[in-house]
Amino acid sequence: MNAPPSSPAPATDAVVLRRRLADALAATGDLRGPAWRAAVESVPREVFAPAWFERSDTERGTMWSPVVGDAATLARVYEDTTLVTQLDGGVAPGDVEGPVFGAPSSSSTLPGLVVGMLEDLGVEDGDRVLEIGSGTGYSTALLARRLGDDLVTSIEVDPETARRAAAALKAAGFEPHLVVGDGLDGVPDRAPFDRLIATCSVREIPRPWLEQSRPGTVILANLTGWLYAFGQARVTVTGPGRAAGEFLPGTVSFMPARRHTPPAPDTGAALAAAGPDRPTELGPEILRDWVGRFVVQGALPNSQQVTAQVGDGPCLDHVLDVDGSHATLLPQQDGSWRVREGGPRRLWSLAERAVTAWRAQGSPPIDAFRLSIDPDRHTIHLPDRSLSWDLPRLEQRRR
Ligand SMILES: C[S@@+](CC[C@H](N)C(=O)[O-])C[C@H]1O[C@@H](n2cnc3c(N)ncnc32)[C@H](O)[C@@H]1O
Repeated sequence: MNAPPSSPAPATDAVVLRRRLADALAATGDLRGPAWRAAVESVPREVFAPAWFERSDTERGTMWSPVVGDAATLARVYEDTTLVTQLDGGVAPGDVEGPVFGAPSSSSTLPGLVVGMLEDLGVEDGDRVLEIGSGTGYSTALLARRLGDDLVTSIEVDPETARRAAAALKAAGFEPHLVVGDGLDGVPDRAPFDRLIATCSVREIPRPWLEQSRPGTVILANLTGWLYAFGQARVTVTGPGRAAGEFLPGTVSFMPARRHTPPAPDTGAALAAAGPDRPTELGPEILRDWVGRFVVQGALPNSQQVTAQVGDGPCLDHVLDVDGSHATLLPQQDGSWRVREGGPRRLWSLAERAVTAWRAQGSPPIDAFRLSIDPDRHTIHLPDRSLSWDLPRLEQRRR
C-alpha cells in the first residue's frame, strides 16, 4: 500500500517499492543479474530526488511544475521515470512557487536506463569506475553499493548539483570520491580507470578519457552532435589514443555535456534568404527519423536545425551551419519539397548524399554502426566502411 501524499511514508513502503522497481526492471531486461538488483533494492532514490519538476505541455510551450514536500510521493520516486531536478543550470524545485518555463539541466535519469547502462558497461568486482555527470548522485550510489566507495569516482560540472549529490550520498551512507569540475577532462588523479560511463552526451570521446584508461577499459557514452541525434556508443580502449566499439540498440538521449552544447544559431541569413530553390526528394521528415537524423548529423556535424516563422509565413525548417551555410525546406501544395540553399556549402545536398548512401545499404539501424578511434580521428562507420564519416576534431581545435 502506498502512503497517501499528505502523510510520511514508512520505510517499509520504500523497501517494497524498491523491490517492485527491481522486478519491473528485470521484466524489461534492463536489470540482468543479482549484483545490480542488490543495489537497486537498497539505494533510497528518495534521498537523491526529494523534489523535482513535472513537465506539462501547454500552448505557450513546455512548463515545469515544482513537486516538493508531501507532494513528492515515494510511489512516484520509484516509478521508472526521469525526475528533472534542475532547470537552466541553476533553478531547483524549491526555488520557484509555481510552474515555470525552462530547459532541464540536471535530473535523476530513469532507473531503467541507469541500470541498463551499468549492465551494458560490464562492470566487474574490483573495477575502478569514473562516472561523468553525478547529477543527483543516485547512479553514483548504485555504483558505490556495487563496488565499494574506494573504486568509484564521480565528477559533476555544476557546483550546486554536486553539493546536493554529495549531501545525499552522505545521508545514504556512501562516500565515493566526488569531484566538482568538467568531466570532459576526466579525473587524472584517480586514473587509470577500468570503466568510464557518461550520463551527459558528448560530441566525441574526449582525449583525456582515453588517456586515463588502459587497454581493455570500456567507455560507455551517449554520442551526440548539434542536430541532437544520439547514439549510445560503447568502445573498448585498445592502446594509447585508440579504441573501437559499437553503437548499442535503442533510442537513448542525454543532455549534452556543457562544453559540447552548440552556439546560439545565427538565423539571419537563412530567414532573409530569397535566392533560387530546387526540388528535393528529402523532406524534413528525415530529421524525425532516429537513424536518419544520425546520418544527416554525420554529414553535417557543425549544423543545427531551427524551426522558425517569419511574419505570417509558414513555420519552416532551417539547417544552419557555423560556416554560414544554410538550407531552408519549403513545403509544396502537392506534398513535395523544395530546398533553398545559401552560403559556402550546399548543406542539403550533403544531407541528400549521405541519406542516399545509407538507404543504398538498406537503411541499417543504429546498432549496425561502429565507432573507431585513433589519435587522429574518430570515425563512425559500417563494418565494411561502405558508409563512414569522421567526427569534427574538437580537442585539437581547442589547443
Ligand atoms: C542526466 S544528469 C545525471 C544523472 C545522474 N547520473 C543521476 O542518476 O542522477 C546529467 C548531469 O551531467 C552534468 N554535466 C553536464 N555536463 C557535464 C560535464 N562537462 N562534466 C560533468 N558533468 C556534466 C549535468 O550538470 C547533470 O547534472
